[in-house]
Amino acid sequence: MKITIVGSGYVGLVTGACFSEVGINVVCVDIDSKKIENLNKGIIPIYEPGLEDMITRNMNKGRLSFTTSIETAVKESEVVFISVGTPPDEDGSADLKYVLAVARDCGKHMTDYTLIVTKSTVPVGTSLKVKEAVQDELNKRNVSIEFDVASNPEFLKEGAAINDFLKPDRIVVGLNSERAESLMSSLYKPFTLNGHPVIFMDIVSAEMTKYAANAMLATKISFINDIANLCEIVGADVNKVRKGIGSDTRIGHKFIYPGIGYGGSCFPKDVQALIRTADENNYNLQVLQAVESVNKYQKLVLFNKINSYYNGDLKGKTIGVWGLSFKPQTDDMREAPALYIINSLLEAGAVVKAYDPVALEEAKHHFGDRITYCDEQYETLIDADCLAILTEWPEFKFPSFKIIKKLLSKPLVFDGRNIYDRDEMAKYGFEYFCIGVRSKKPELETLSV
Ligand code: UDX
Repeated sequence: MKITIVGSGYVGLVTGACFSEVGINVVCVDIDSKKIENLNKGIIPIYEPGLEDMITRNMNKGRLSFTTSIETAVKESEVVFISVGTPPDEDGSADLKYVLAVARDCGKHMTDYTLIVTKSTVPVGTSLKVKEAVQDELNKRNVSIEFDVASNPEFLKEGAAINDFLKPDRIVVGLNSERAESLMSSLYKPFTLNGHPVIFMDIVSAEMTKYAANAMLATKISFINDIANLCEIVGADVNKVRKGIGSDTRIGHKFIYPGIGYGGSCFPKDVQALIRTADENNYNLQVLQAVESVNKYQKLVLFNKINSYYNGDLKGKTIGVWGLSFKPQTDDMREAPALYIINSLLEAGAVVKAYDPVALEEAKHHFGDRITYCDEQYETLIDADCLAILTEWPEFKFPSFKIIKKLLSKPLVFDGRNIYDRDEMAKYGFEYFCIGVRSKKPELETLSV
């Protein structure tokens, strides 16, 4: 079977690479000719562990190719996946122009039965619009070619996308034809041999499933962040509360880590888009509105702690920052808490020296020469007044506290990800501020660290 993936972004590349890995012939299409030129040379535009190797291996086997010609790709393929971007427009709703343009291209170029599958995260009801766009183009050509549309949302986590695709918890497919169901079953068979289900449902429910999943996860995060803030006020320790509630299997340990708010390309956009869908249907989605407002507040919690430590006067203070990406294992900074925190620090007159294991280049697009970029984590602390941790990269978890102490003008750490133990930090003689736990007076007799 030959399939086409339109849109060689994050989702498209992972999808294309993983389908080719199990032996399916895949053509990946993108309108960005520079990107396609690079991909053909084996240069991958994103950082995702394992992706480059997988792409190169399958290109060499002749099962994976890249082109700008959607026409040839569509003509040769039985299944076309749409995985182009749906950026939010000004009012927060998803902009469908790219998705519908691909649908039109399918209608313009298909010569035989084609199954058109939407993988991009699109508002409920979009697959119907895709169907209309394809049919409209067929009508213009005055031809009658059978086709189906399906919705197949992705649940890939950045940094773990290959594993998520190869060993999914579940695959959700919305469709309304037996032919389409049999095609999708055979395409996903290699990924479901270990018993993970393909859940077939109607198209609208599949579209809704994606939003509901991300909204539920975002809700867990905003919930624990709200509780964390209250813990701090009443003198409870959110790290203990988290363990206490997570042990109830109905709640579970995952996705209840407090921090500086969720970021990334999915949660903020999808929560907003779902609120918008509800608005358009005259329904007031109250829980998600609260989820969003807690998240906005949370993104500035760490800045507020730093600012109040210095009594609202950050002029001339130098902050060493560890971590810029919205989470570890990615260079993605979309909606990263670091953007909000660093911008607030700069506006308040502070100097920022930052390090991230992979996101430094990306950060340059956001901050230009407004901050200092360091190639190594301890370099950020030279002449700095404090350390702020904004992403929980593994390499930050066991640092040399001795070096940190030696370099900083005083032992002062603001941790937005709760990666250190408050009591140990006090023993080491640090003033340590984290999320959802009151800080503790540092001990005078400091241990050797
Ligand atoms: C998410 C979904 O997990 C994935 O299924 C969907 O397809 C796309 O969106 P991703 O954006 O890659 O994936 O990131 P994820 O690992 O889910 O984390 C999202 C954000 O939540 C990050 O900013 C992270 O720091 C934050 N988070 C996560 C917390 O603050 N606490 C947690 O307990 C978990």
